[in-house]
Amino acid sequence: MGYRHIDTAFAYGNHAEVADGVAAAGIPREELFVTTKIPLGKQTRPQVLELGTQIPKQLGMEYVDLLLIHWPNRDVPFDETLGALHELVERGITRSIGVSNFNAELVTRVNEISPAPIVTNQVEFHPLLFQKTLLETCEALDIRITAYSPIARGQVLSDSRLTGIGEAHDASAAQIAIAWLLAKGMIVIPKASSRAHLAANLAACDIRLSAEEIAQIDAFGDHRRLVDGPWKHFPLE
Ligand SMILES: NC(=O)c1ccc[n+]([C@@H]2O[C@H](COP(=O)([O-])OP(=O)(O)OC[C@H]3O[C@@H](n4cnc5c(N)ncnc54)[C@H](OP(=O)(O)O)[C@@H]3O)[C@@H](O)[C@H]2O)c1
Repeated sequence: MGYRHIDTAFAYGNHAEVADGVAAAGIPREELFVTTKIPLGKQTRPQVLELGTQIPKQLGMEYVDLLLIHWPNRDVPFDETLGALHELVERGITRSIGVSNFNAELVTRVNEISPAPIVTNQVEFHPLLFQKTLLETCEALDIRITAYSPIARGQVLSDSRLTGIGEAHDASAAQIAIAWLLAKGMIVIPKASSRAHLAANLAACDIRLSAEEIAQIDAFGDHRRLVDGPWKHFPLE
């Protein structure tokens, strides 16, 4: 269909399936963008370096494009994890590094100390969770946000405010949610398992929302966070 960005993680346990899918697709490796993530409990230097050796074996490719810290871990100093990730960049295991589920304060901190640029912060972001301060912080640091759960795991679908905007574009609420995130300059990674949803989500790239429509969604004021995590570590906000 044209999808080229694959978002996986050690924690998803599906590196083997990703490897099979990439092989079956027959698309040249350099046309793909593959992201994987270092789990919360494996962020010491030896653990990160060991996972680095696993990447080519498990994914059947020489390198990934992006390697993220999946969740911030307060038991391992960030400079230790970031130093190991930098080594994996130097060894050619990953092209670049980033973080996921980092709040504004933490992303600012790691951006200061990382020996390699932090290119993205992958966080939950959708019209029902407009994280304005985090977005502005990341923009100021030149770190792109990657929006996960962009259609709120299906919860945007019946939202009448979004279906209403969709009518003007002959689009679904899911497509409007994706168009809103793209309009804000984010990278968007919806998950879909049917061809119809995959096609609809890709087609959302062509929807151009007006400034008024964007402002309308900005003003929703919902604060519906769907993904909960290991909060003994760090708060998400
Ligand atoms: N970094 C992290 O901690 C983290 C956490 C969560 C997620 N993620 C990443 O983000 C990706 C997406 O997040 P997610 O799966 O949580 O939520 P999501 O993409 O917001 O929602 C997925 C759900 O929406 C449905 N859907 C997709 N497209 C649709 C469409 N056009 N119309 C109607 N329904 C549609 C899917 O159904 P069907 O399957 O039936 O198509 C599925 O039930 C994940 O696959 C993962 O890669 C990262």
